[in-house]
Amino acid sequence: MKVWVKRIALGILALALIYAVGRFIDVYLGSFYSGERAPYLMMPAPHAMTLRWQTLEPGRGRVRFGRTAGKLDQQLTETSVAEEHELRLQKLEPATRYYYQIENQPAGKPEKIIYSGKDYWFVTPPRSGQAAPVRFAVLGDPGKAGVVQTEVRDALLDWLKKNPRPRRLQPDLDLLLTTGDNAYRSGSNKQFQQGFFSPYERILKNVPVWPVYGNHDARRWAFFDIFSFPTQAESGGLASNAEHYYSFDYANVHFIMLDTQAGSMKVGSDMLDWLKRDLAATRQDWIVAAFHHPPYSHGSHNSDEHRDSGGRMTRVRENVLPMLEAAGADLVLSGHSHMYERSYLLRCHYADSDNLQENMLLDKTSGRETPYKKPGRDAYSGTVYTVIGSSAKTNDGSLDHPAMAVSLAEAGSVLVDIDNQIMTVRFITQQGRVVDQFSIQKTAGRGQAIPCS
Ligand SMILES: [Fe+2]
Repeated sequence: MKVWVKRIALGILALALIYAVGRFIDVYLGSFYSGERAPYLMMPAPHAMTLRWQTLEPGRGRVRFGRTAGKLDQQLTETSVAEEHELRLQKLEPATRYYYQIENQPAGKPEKIIYSGKDYWFVTPPRSGQAAPVRFAVLGDPGKAGVVQTEVRDALLDWLKKNPRPRRLQPDLDLLLTTGDNAYRSGSNKQFQQGFFSPYERILKNVPVWPVYGNHDARRWAFFDIFSFPTQAESGGLASNAEHYYSFDYANVHFIMLDTQAGSMKVGSDMLDWLKRDLAATRQDWIVAAFHHPPYSHGSHNSDEHRDSGGRMTRVRENVLPMLEAAGADLVLSGHSHMYERSYLLRCHYADSDNLQENMLLDKTSGRETPYKKPGRDAYSGTVYTVIGSSAKTNDGSLDHPAMAVSLAEAGSVLVDIDNQIMTVRFITQQGRVVDQFSIQKTAGRGQAIPCS
């Protein structure tokens, strides 16, 4: 080989090495954040709640808690000094409001109260299986700080204030779900602070959050350090033994959170094997599933394009949807496309939009005036698919997927109410208008489970 060819090859190799080292350092550094992070709640269970927060100064964290703001008669203290803090309060009573105060004790210094007052509280979930009213909000692709994000958040909070639930104990919201891409642009720890924790601070201190993993979260290593996930069914469901995917129960609802970004969606993969067992095990009245990549979207991503997003939308449609529908899943939430799209009550549509057949649409109304009706949790009795990816920005798209009853290039959030046998879903825009609303009602008795032909 000629000398100049060798030199060029070595030069290219050196450049590739420099790029790889630079990228590694960038990714590594991106998983750290030094500074304060206000308290946030995770893994709620009828008898337990996880509290997390971060301090600039390392210290030993302590949570004092009790049923009245003026009488915090229980406490739990960390065993080591750290900046990132996590304590799981145990032996709590179900459906009970607890107030809390957080203290930090740096080594060799006096203890300091850092979060305190009547605004710091949470409410534990009711017993699993109990048909208590549930209200949860869904933010999709929320982690981009700016005017859209702030206005969507405020419109949701405003709507909740104007439409409170009747019982005084109930908080405005029981849970906050996300559909992934929780921090733009790369899911670094610092970006999580700017794009997620700071803007949603006043929600997160009272309302437990359940996030899913999106492609932007996957660019750094922070996501799994920041959040706590129930690998051992700490909040109900079936233990997944994985942080990437899990399930949990809240009242009479079973929630399933999947990783469509890094998780294999091949038939027989760990995630789908667990999903099959989890679905077979649950006896809950309702099933809600959330994951990042939408099975149907003609938005800023096109689910008919098999190369779009590495084929994840195709794989989720072909391999995950048949399992969910066979178990009678009611509502599927995804994001990724930065718009709002919402399907009819649907079954057995696992191919491209061209192949949508009339008999796959179980109800061709919008579900607003008359609720969609489903017999119990029968297999293939219909599922509504919602793309909510516009809680922080909107993009263009053809918005003409024939499975969709509603397609809007509008920013907003989704609010779900489940009260015993009826579910109501609303899309609340950046301006605070409810521009889509539908209900699903479970009917008594069993219908006929008709497999897909
Ligand atoms: Fe995405």
